[in-house]
Amino acid sequence: MKRFLTVDDIGDLGQALKEAAEVKKTPYAWDTLGKNKTITLIFFNSSLRTRLSTQKAAMNLGMNVIVLDVNKDGWQLETEFGVVMDGDKPEHLREAVPVIGRYCDIIGVRSFASFEDKKADYEEEILNQFINFAGVPIISMESATRHPLQAFADLFTIEEFKNKERPKVVLTWAPHPRALPQAVPNSFVEWMKVADVDLVVTHPKGYELSPEFTDGVTVEYDQKKAFEDADFIYAKNWASYEQYGQLLSQDKSWTVDEEKMSLTNDARFMHCLPVRRNMIVTDGVIDSENSIVIDEAANRVVSAQVVIKRMLEALK
Ligand code: CP
Repeated sequence: MKRFLTVDDIGDLGQALKEAAEVKKTPYAWDTLGKNKTITLIFFNSSLRTRLSTQKAAMNLGMNVIVLDVNKDGWQLETEFGVVMDGDKPEHLREAVPVIGRYCDIIGVRSFASFEDKKADYEEEILNQFINFAGVPIISMESATRHPLQAFADLFTIEEFKNKERPKVVLTWAPHPRALPQAVPNSFVEWMKVADVDLVVTHPKGYELSPEFTDGVTVEYDQKKAFEDADFIYAKNWASYEQYGQLLSQDKSWTVDEEKMSLTNDARFMHCLPVRRNMIVTDGVIDSENSIVIDEAANRVVSAQVVIKRMLEALK
């Protein structure tokens, strides 16, 4: 595996889930695979889960880990081409990326949507500079449009908790005080579309995701109807795609609460975290026995370890 950006990069999902189960059962079985290999994890914004779980996954494989927080640790990086660099960014990614690539064997990068330019975000201008200039395999630790390590962990969690062959999985928009990217819902939809689940997406009008992701997916604008007989409720906020980056609504009637969960088939509650309590979900739901958000976050180590392991095996 040379890159991990989308669901296509993981290959056969059944095989990937089997490998994930093996990694979870025996996390230290490959603890010499990464001997004398280094992974650099680069963050253009904050992270708790991605930073710690990817670091832990690499350490389980015996790797050395370097973490770089661009906003705190290095020079401010210019990302646009053709600009006169007379501002506060003394280094361009065009030099920084190949330099970082000389110091390590794999790079994990978290960029993020700028929300300033839809085309630049959806063309993944920052991530692509890493792909084009690093000279080493690249793992997306969340980009402007996708969060594949999260979606892989989400799918594995559903696999662990499902009690029927083809569960009904509902992705629901929920309110949030700030505009958030579409990366998590985009990837969730992308992975669920090829998984053995019945996927329904529910959100207020105006919050349609890019058709690149939702073509062929059932969208139900009535949240309560969508929840009926669901086996998994996956809550997430995202900003408008059409009116790009706009916060159109903070409608609390979309908060996931006990009454709505009672419409489901005793559904498990999922969220990628961090979560705003009593905005996205009530305390009662997230603290209930049906909430699997901590197990879901724990599985981020598993998804990262499968991906890094495959990359190390390909480097041999
Ligand atoms: N879910 C997730 O990616 O969390 P962090 O932003 O804390 O990494």
